[in-house]
Amino acid sequence: MSDKTVKLLSTLKLQPVVPVLIIEDAKTAVPLARALVAGGLKAIEITLRTEAALEAVRLVAQEVEGAVVGAGTILNAAHYAAAVDAGSQFIVSPGTTQELLDVARQSDIPLLPGAATASEVMALREEGYKVLKFFPAEQAGGAAYLKALSSPLAGTLFCPTGGISLKNAMDYLSLPNVVCVGGSWVAPKELVSAGDWAGITKLASEASALKG
Ligand code: 3PG
Repeated sequence: MSDKTVKLLSTLKLQPVVPVLIIEDAKTAVPLARALVAGGLKAIEITLRTEAALEAVRLVAQEVEGAVVGAGTILNAAHYAAAVDAGSQFIVSPGTTQELLDVARQSDIPLLPGAATASEVMALREEGYKVLKFFPAEQAGGAAYLKALSSPLAGTLFCPTGGISLKNAMDYLSLPNVVCVGGSWVAPKELVSAGDWAGITKLASEASALKG
């Protein structure tokens, strides 16, 4: 296993659930990340879907003790470079392109690339990837689908994301090929805009108590 894969796995194994964040206002990033860390969720993915995202990554990387911040929704080499420059410690993409594979190969910061079919998983295995994001998990076929990949594609581990909540997280976490799940449910928009950080810590605590 490469050093980068070891690093990625150790981050993903910090907790059963990686929060997937869409941050509209960079000022919320630090209190939000602190609330998640206080609830036991240290590895945090900030998606590059908003203007505030890179600043949010930068602030969390600099100011939140105990957080391991990554960047998600990375679609191209420019996103990758900007996210690494902002302090991302891991990179997540919903799918995979040759451009992403090329930039990831040259970077010290590991990529968790997205895949949703056996052929996509096989192509990434040929590139040396052992840990993938299964996306969009529920919509692509859910835990039963991922379970069906576990025998023919043994040796590949997944972080399923998309449509996962406290209710169905264990369906995935109980599978042998799942290392953690990702989800936005631990940071609902309403609680973030209300500044209800205690409410977010409570959701994070429930999520971090799930057994993988
Ligand atoms: C995403 O990329 O949007 C993540 O998969 C989060 O999905 P969710 O909002 O369904 O948890």
